[in-house]
Amino acid sequence: MNEADRKTWGASAHERKVENLYGGGVENYVDHHDGYLNFGLWEEGIADYVRAAENLVHRMGTILGLNGTSKLLDVAPGMGTQDIYLFENFAPLSIDGLDVTWGHIQHGRRRAQEAHIEERVRFHHGTATEIPFPDESFTHVLSIEGPEHFDTREKFLHEARRVLEPGGVIAMADFIVKRQPRNVIEKIVAEAARKLWQVPRANVYDAKVYEEKMRSAGFENIQIQELGAAVIPGYYFEQMKPETIRAISKIRGFALARLSLLLDVAVYRGFTMGLLEYVLVRGERR
Ligand SMILES: C[S@@+](CC[C@H](N)C(=O)[O-])C[C@H]1O[C@@H](n2cnc3c(N)ncnc32)[C@H](O)[C@@H]1O
Repeated sequence: MNEADRKTWGASAHERKVENLYGGGVENYVDHHDGYLNFGLWEEGIADYVRAAENLVHRMGTILGLNGTSKLLDVAPGMGTQDIYLFENFAPLSIDGLDVTWGHIQHGRRRAQEAHIEERVRFHHGTATEIPFPDESFTHVLSIEGPEHFDTREKFLHEARRVLEPGGVIAMADFIVKRQPRNVIEKIVAEAARKLWQVPRANVYDAKVYEEKMRSAGFENIQIQELGAAVIPGYYFEQMKPETIRAISKIRGFALARLSLLLDVAVYRGFTMGLLEYVLVRGERR
């Protein structure tokens, strides 16, 4: 892999913290969960994690309206499996993936090479808040479970608008606040989930504020669909399976695996307490 493409972040940069979170043991990942990290969309009798993950990716491709003329920018593609899936199922002209975790870029490039589509499905190391492409380069922008991390989501929305053609479409799978914590326990759960998961405080808001931020970044026809019940419990029970815990411990090591478990519990409890929601968001560039 070409190390020259690798970016370096300042000692206190948020990007460095996120890369440390996702980069731990990433070289051992190979085919666990087919390289998907998303929560999955557990509907229509789906009981298998990879099918749930693909179902979510398929829904995002459908919401975007990808077709043979699409030039897609996928921000935070993780290990790239979702882009191989989108390429094979929606046949866009090209996909460029941009992720902050170098280990993820390496996996994505390997997968694209193995599928012999590396000319049309490309992976770049960088950050969502400084997208390394000229204005109006893309017809579509996607981000699955990346925006909560970006420093900030609002900055990313402005960048996404800049690189989209007029009329271009953005779709995101993301998290919003449902209500403020009311007592000490709820405050601890909410703050634990935010901190463990490297979510900047500036990204913590509800659907109304989310919609306002999209509108002021230059998007219209905004839709925000709440889907937590079909997403969060399915993922939580998958992550709590002893075989998943064993696999993650082998990949990430004991300490990081326990941290991930704690995070899964915090997100699940945050959802069941009614503090947070999982949303699919769509908008069109003005
Ligand atoms: C929960 S994972 C989702 C990955 C992938 N979409 C999937 O579902 O498998 C979050 C991803 O966001 C990426 N990420 C976080 N902050 C980022 C940033 N500022 N710019 C680009 N990618 C970022 C992480 O490296 C990680 O790959």
